[in-house]
Amino acid sequence: MGYLLGIDVGTGGTRAILVDPATGDVIAGSTDEYPMYTPQPQWAEQDPADWWRATRNAIQGAIAQAGIRAEDIQGIGLTGQMHGIVLLDENDEVLRSSIIWCDQRSQAQCDWITERVGAERLIELTSNPALTGFSAPKLLWVRDHQPDIYAKVRTVLLPKDFIRFKLTGERASEVSDASGTLLFDVTHRRWSQKMLDALDIDPTWLPKVYESPEVTGYVTAQAAKLTGLKEGTPVVGGGGDQAAGAVGNGIVRSGIVSCTVGTSGVVFAYMEQPKLDPKGRVHTFCHAVPGAWHVMGVTQGAGLSLRWFRDRFGGMEQALAPELGVDPYDIIVDEAQRSPAGCEGLIFLPYLMGERTPHLDPDAKGVFFGLTARHTRGDVIRSILEGVAYSLRDSFEILREMSVPVEQVRASGGGARSALWRQIQADVYNKELVTINATEGPAYGAALLAGVGTGTWKTVPEACDATIRIVGRTRPNPDDVSVYNAYYPIYRSLYKSLKPAYDQVAEVIRTYTK
Ligand code: XUL
Repeated sequence: MGYLLGIDVGTGGTRAILVDPATGDVIAGSTDEYPMYTPQPQWAEQDPADWWRATRNAIQGAIAQAGIRAEDIQGIGLTGQMHGIVLLDENDEVLRSSIIWCDQRSQAQCDWITERVGAERLIELTSNPALTGFSAPKLLWVRDHQPDIYAKVRTVLLPKDFIRFKLTGERASEVSDASGTLLFDVTHRRWSQKMLDALDIDPTWLPKVYESPEVTGYVTAQAAKLTGLKEGTPVVGGGGDQAAGAVGNGIVRSGIVSCTVGTSGVVFAYMEQPKLDPKGRVHTFCHAVPGAWHVMGVTQGAGLSLRWFRDRFGGMEQALAPELGVDPYDIIVDEAQRSPAGCEGLIFLPYLMGERTPHLDPDAKGVFFGLTARHTRGDVIRSILEGVAYSLRDSFEILREMSVPVEQVRASGGGARSALWRQIQADVYNKELVTINATEGPAYGAALLAGVGTGTWKTVPEACDATIRIVGRTRPNPDDVSVYNAYYPIYRSLYKSLKPAYDQVAEVIRTYTK
């Protein structure tokens, strides 16, 4: 049995990990970072060349750290940020930087799609409404604003599938990531010819779609030279970061739900049949488990909100952290520890990149509500942790409305590493949170999918049962549950009250942004 390589093309960087399938242990991990560009308000772009450079470095770093030979790698699984578009011309050259998942510029294209297809028909065909986060509106933005580039498009790939193309030369995707394009028939697990016709998109631009554990290609001689991998190593479909992360968290049966606080925040539930929220506030996508689906609610700015605080106001912590040998986040979150639950009325709305669940509103903005002269820096930090948890509670409320069972919540992502943030989440949701031994999320899930595709395990649940176990529990504290139950309806009402102001601000920004 060889090692399994999981590669996660994330928003902050690409991470490569090596997993020993005999024990389920991660034997090495290496990350290489890259920037995100925000050339205008609401825009977010990355350079696919950065992803490829970082992937090569991360693979080499992981192999060197593990001290293994490339031929000891049995299979590779890919995962990554969803929804972003990589456009290639007839020579397979990248035509423009990638417009990525959190970019919000395409509301006009969403309106156009909804008008052209019809709101109900859209849900029938793709299981989801048109959202600025999804791929098709981003592609149509290029059609509308950069027609010269659009005319040269011959291939459209998702971020991790661009890396697959570099590794294997194959144009391939898999069902979970394809689900986030708005061009995919989620119910039947295939591209939607009707959507392609309606939007006048050439089907030859799109990659072939596989189930997540299926082998999609093999590392080419050229990629082997550039990465240190062995030519011919199989690469399986893998999954969008949320579906692969769910595999890495063992979310492969009904009732077990994950709550992941990464850059975005996601509440993810497994489903045997594709159930829909008629209001489209949560996404219904194919799972990386063949024949299964999932529903997920997304908070755009979860970890992103705390990172924003660290980057803009945490200079002191960033300077101090290396001296203390800790992460700057540890010092920042420690300051919040001294503040009371509810922060004496200070409420943060985490809409720094607009919001998906439940508002589906790219124009929503972040807010600190209820500041007084008494509030401390610690209160501000704690209110960020609480605001993100309130937003994730919105997703749990929708799952309840949809009768999706929630018997166990598995906390994961950077947010699960902080005991304080875990406790705040348990109290805001009034649910016990469990943590598991595997903390690598998407990269780990991708490695498990590679193990299934190359014969170590027969099924995805079997892979999860062999490797994943519960290691910690955070129980809700009844006093703080009451405090949060009192503040949550106020949190909910703030968006409604502010909506007219959000719209006005958006209009002013549009008028005055050159
Ligand atoms: C899921 C989503 C994010 C991105 C980046 O719909 O947009 O999870 O994949 O993490």
